[in-house]
Amino acid sequence: MTEAKSDFSKGAAYINGQYVPISEAKVPVGDWGFTHSDVTYDVVHVTDGGFFRLEDHLDRFHRSLEGYRLDPGVSRGEMRTILGKVVALSGLKDAFVAMISTRGVPRVYGSRDPDDCDNTFIAYAVPWVDVIKPDVQARGAHLLVAQVPRISQDSLDPTLKNYMWRDFTRGMFEAKDKGFDTAILLDAEGYLTEGAGFNVFIVKGNEVITPDRGALRGITRLAVLDLCPELGLEGKVAPVTFEELMDADEVFTTTTAGGVMPCSRVNERIYGNDRPGPISAKIKETYWRKHKEGWHMTPVNYADADNPFAAAA
Ligand SMILES: Cc1ncc(COP(=O)(O)O)c(C=O)c1O
Repeated sequence: MTEAKSDFSKGAAYINGQYVPISEAKVPVGDWGFTHSDVTYDVVHVTDGGFFRLEDHLDRFHRSLEGYRLDPGVSRGEMRTILGKVVALSGLKDAFVAMISTRGVPRVYGSRDPDDCDNTFIAYAVPWVDVIKPDVQARGAHLLVAQVPRISQDSLDPTLKNYMWRDFTRGMFEAKDKGFDTAILLDAEGYLTEGAGFNVFIVKGNEVITPDRGALRGITRLAVLDLCPELGLEGKVAPVTFEELMDADEVFTTTTAGGVMPCSRVNERIYGNDRPGPISAKIKETYWRKHKEGWHMTPVNYADADNPFAAAA
């Protein structure tokens, strides 16, 4: 097989039915994924050679596919094998693994009919990088509540993963201009939603609360809610106002691409002693310790990329 000769060490991709090094994975300019942001995706992480909550990510990806009426013609089982194979080919023990479906290039040039497109399935594995740098995580991230409101969930369902990041990107530029690490957005009614690629939690007393609106149902968010009872905390999904955010004891963010990331400031408000709060730190420590213990992990069989989930002999 051609893939055996390729160098996948910087990442491996599956595109157009082929396995290629990540640098060779290219989408045509006519693909509606590019021209109309008509695409959905999901990202799962691999740590110490195992996928975290792979079935939850596949469930969410399938909900997104249905929500966007995308059908790449690849079964769930085939997707799972492809995801395992890109990881096994890359040899990466710590990685981000993306699954993507674009509307595709219309068969009739210039057509505006989505039924004229063959939907694609793309997957790739690339080396892990911390989206919030480890030194920033250690001091606690500084978040800005950006001026731009989160796009209405009546226009864009935030529970279906998408690349329509214009509001987030505007917020991130505003945050950078004002000396913050990143941005979080309120909706038009003033309720907290989420940030550029992460969910937000506030801690108040024993309660650990994440917004019920305008936000992705993050898999890391789910993991935190699952952990709360064993830590003696009450996890809640509820409306969070700006005032409640400012009045919280602690704030932290969650994402696949970084885990549980404590914050120490929002706008001019400094939480605790300007360092990650004790409950955020405890949740973060527990989240990573449970990874090491194999919690929701699916090990990859690196020895045989064609059977990436066969138990190692
Ligand atoms: C907009 C948005 N919110 C939240 C998240 C966090 O979700 P998860 O924990 O599943 O990575 C992401 C992840 O990329 C995201 O893009």
